[in-house]
Amino acid sequence: MPPPQQRRPIQIAPSVLPADFARLGEECQVLEKAGVDLIHWDVMDGVFVPNLTFGPDVIASTRPLVDLDFEAHLMVVEPDRLVDRYVKAGCSTVLVHAEACEHLHRTLGHIAELGAVPGVALNPHTPVSAICHVRDLIGVLLIMTVNPGFGGQAYIPLEDKVAEAADLLDGFDCSIEVDGGIGPSTVAGVVSAGANRLVSGSALFRDSEGLKHAVTDLRTRAVAAQA
Ligand code: DX5
Ligand code: ZN
Repeated sequence: MPPPQQRRPIQIAPSVLPADFARLGEECQVLEKAGVDLIHWDVMDGVFVPNLTFGPDVIASTRPLVDLDFEAHLMVVEPDRLVDRYVKAGCSTVLVHAEACEHLHRTLGHIAELGAVPGVALNPHTPVSAICHVRDLIGVLLIMTVNPGFGGQAYIPLEDKVAEAADLLDGFDCSIEVDGGIGPSTVAGVVSAGANRLVSGSALFRDSEGLKHAVTDLRTRAVAAQA
């Protein structure tokens, strides 16, 4: 049986937090041309995290411009209030924070009823065991490698947590996603630990050779680390 990560394809999921908010639609098109696999929308409510970002209407306005899947990373309190609107806006995956859900099992079931892929995000301090009773309900487990709220933060080394997640999810059809400080110097560690979906914001947008180079380089490094 191949190691778990070999059964999970490498996916590059750029965060658009560092993008030019005055040209979000064009930026999504540039990312599509650069060869990314999906778009990661960092939704922040100013309460769960001290920052405010994209409402559903902003995401909906870019939806028709690209063919890529959208995933909404809901860094919000009481996500049940908002899930439906982000699915309606065109997000095919919705990630809720375990720390923000009173009834996580019910929330994940509701996301699935809407026809979207349910996902759980875990802050750096939250143990992987938080999802052990909902493994069958999720298509993505997102392991934060920064404290949520802002892009460009320093990576928190959590390869052991990623490896623990890979063990817990072995045999489950669930991507293992990492988010925060992911770039050329950190990608190999998280992928060899078992991550396959890579959120990257500042490392992609600050590459002096452009987004296409950054995406290709990150994918090359990730595929090499899976081998
Ligand atoms: C932080 C967000 C991340 C972040 C990633 O709260 O969830 O997606 O924007 O940005 P970088 O790659 O710059 O750490
Ligand atoms: Zn994110």
